[in-house]
Amino acid sequence: MQIYKVGGAVRDRLLGIPVTDVDRVVVGATAEEMLAKGFRPVGADFPVFLDPRTGEEYALARTERKSGRGYGGFVFHASPEVTLEEDLIRRDLTINAMAEDDHGNLTDPYHGQRDLEARLLRHVSPAFAEDPLRVLRVARFAARYAPLGFKVADETLELMRQLSDSGELEALTPERSWKEISRALMENQPQVFIQVLRDCDALKVLMPEVDALFGVPQPEAHHPEIDTGVHTLSVLEQAALHQQPLTVRWACLLHDLGKALTPEQDWPRHIAHEHKGLKPIKAVNERFKVPRDCQELALLVGQYHTHGHRALELKASTLLELLQSFDVFRRPQRFEEFIAACEMDARGRKGLENRNYPQADYLRGAAAAARGVAVQPLLEKGFKGPELGEAIKRERLRALKAYKEGTH
Ligand code: CTP
Repeated sequence: MQIYKVGGAVRDRLLGIPVTDVDRVVVGATAEEMLAKGFRPVGADFPVFLDPRTGEEYALARTERKSGRGYGGFVFHASPEVTLEEDLIRRDLTINAMAEDDHGNLTDPYHGQRDLEARLLRHVSPAFAEDPLRVLRVARFAARYAPLGFKVADETLELMRQLSDSGELEALTPERSWKEISRALMENQPQVFIQVLRDCDALKVLMPEVDALFGVPQPEAHHPEIDTGVHTLSVLEQAALHQQPLTVRWACLLHDLGKALTPEQDWPRHIAHEHKGLKPIKAVNERFKVPRDCQELALLVGQYHTHGHRALELKASTLLELLQSFDVFRRPQRFEEFIAACEMDARGRKGLENRNYPQADYLRGAAAAARGVAVQPLLEKGFKGPELGEAIKRERLRALKAYKEGTH
């Protein structure tokens, strides 16, 4: 048997990027031979094995990667006769279809090196279409390598468009899609992920609610970029520049979905878009079975982001309601994430990227003031049950009024 490094490890070494995961392909071996050598199978009928000493993956060379529509299952053909070239031609991108042996010799039948130099994400062959998830993968690689100048090749974008229009994307499982979406959002330029999905018509299939934001105008006074889709991309860009966590990035992407539901005659104003956005946010959350913390923050940011912007004008009672909605007394971190999302929203506007956002510290101060109310003295006064709750609320309101007077 011959063993080669393949995929991301070869690509990233050639790009001079640190390699974390090493995948290997094994040519000329059977599953039985792998088991006899002490490799452990990954799953039942997957021709992939783990080296128990290193945890690294070894896949038997294979052809056929067709995903079973509607099942999330795959059909593989692995056999000792499958050559390295036959395995590589079924991979997604030329830059991912290079192999390297133990002596550092490169096998590059589909010119991955040339495309690395040309900064092109290009599919290897029509077999690209065997796995529609690759539409998301290419958009994710575009987001990751955009700072190096990579673009999607025109003919690959065209193939991605055909896949999007064919209805194949609808067969992807929520789990596989979310894995790509969440990884893409954590890349350097997540806005490029959304832009590429839009360029190949995949966005209107995967997240029509986000796609619908493009072409919707906002008042120029607050939004010099005008277009709500463009604004959303800028907010995401800011979130990455400020190294925000996934929860915040997800909330940034969905915060303005309600604006797509404004009747055209009301443009460019968007009355009650915060509330109108909750239904589409919920729909996207559920479509991809998004983790709970991301779901919750997206809904809260959708509902309250304009409260964040108007923080300094809010009455003490409204401030208290806001803090309670976030359950800030038990979950201070989530409120911090809300503040971060609001700040990214304020900066994701043309020419306003470096503006100050005094609302952030003001909101932190308000949360601290309300949290500073001690419960012990109220217990000592004999308050219990619902009365205790009311007394705490009264004291918190008093603290917030004092905070407002002190800071205004
Ligand atoms: N691959 C593919 N089609 C897929 C998934 C993977 O062709 N849908 C191939 C590619 O050759 C890829 C390799 O399998 O390079 C390994 O896949 P994976 O580990 O998912 O990605 P990497 O390319 O290693 O990239 P990353 O840095 O994102 O892990």
